[in-house]
Amino acid sequence: MTVVPILRPWRPADASVLLAASADPELARQLGGRTFDDESAAAAFIAITYRFDGHARNWAIVDDGDGDGDGDGVVVGNVGVTAIEHTHSTAWTSYWLTPETRGRGLATRALVAAADDAFALGVHRLELGHRTNNPASCAVATRAGFRAEGVERDKLRYGDDRFDVETHARLATDPAPDVTGLRSVVSDA
Ligand SMILES: CC(C)(COP(=O)(O)OP(=O)(O)OC[C@H]1O[C@@H](n2cnc3c(N)ncnc32)[C@H](O)[C@@H]1OP(=O)(O)O)[C@@H](O)C(=O)NCCC(=O)NCCS
Repeated sequence: MTVVPILRPWRPADASVLLAASADPELARQLGGRTFDDESAAAAFIAITYRFDGHARNWAIVDDGDGDGDGDGVVVGNVGVTAIEHTHSTAWTSYWLTPETRGRGLATRALVAAADDAFALGVHRLELGHRTNNPASCAVATRAGFRAEGVERDKLRYGDDRFDVETHARLATDPAPDVTGLRSVVSDA
C-alpha cells in the first residue's frame, strides 16, 4: 500500500502516540521535558500545547495509509508554528519525527508545508533554532529554505549540560526551496 503523508491538526485520539513518543528521551525534550503518566495527560497536552488557532498552528504529521486525506493514518511526528506574533508578523517553528520514520525527507516536506501555511496567513519571519550538535535538524532547516543567522551560546540546558543553538529564519520574501511540501488538511474528518 502506498503511504501518503499529510499534515492535519492534532486530535485528542492522538494521545496514545504522544504517550509512546514521550518515552524516548530525545522526543521528551521536544515536548518541553515532559513524560506523560497516561493518555489523559497526553490528551491534555494536545489540547493546551498542540493547539491550532490564531497563535499556534501545530500540525500532526500523519502517514495517511489509504491516501484519502482524512488523516486517519498513523501520527509520526509534529511540525508546529507557534508564538505567532501579529504586531511584527513573526513566529517560531519546531519539528520532530518518531525514530523509525526518519531518513525519508518527511521533516523537510512537513516544514515546507507549515511554512507555506504560515506565510499565507501573513507571517513574515519564521524562526527556528537547533542545537549545534544536531546536524539532522540543521539539514532539514537548510533544505526547507531557512537561512542560518548565527549562534546563541549556551541557550539551552538539558540536565547539567548547556548547548549552543544556531538560529535559522525564512522570510516570506525569501526564495522558495525546491521541495514539495506535504499536503495540509485543516478540516476534521
Ligand atoms: C530532526 C529530525 C526531524 C530530522 O528527521 P529526518 O527528516 O528524518 O532527517 P534525516 O534523517 O533525513 O536527516 C536529515 C539530514 O541530516 C543528515 N543527518 C542525519 N543525522 C546526521 C548526523 N548524525 N550527522 C550528520 N548528518 C546527519 C542526513 O544525512 C540528512 O541529510 P541528507 O538528506 O543530505 O543525507 C529528526 O532527526 C528528529 O525528530 N530528531 C529529534 C527531534 C529534533 O531534534 N527536532 C529538531 C529540534 S531543533
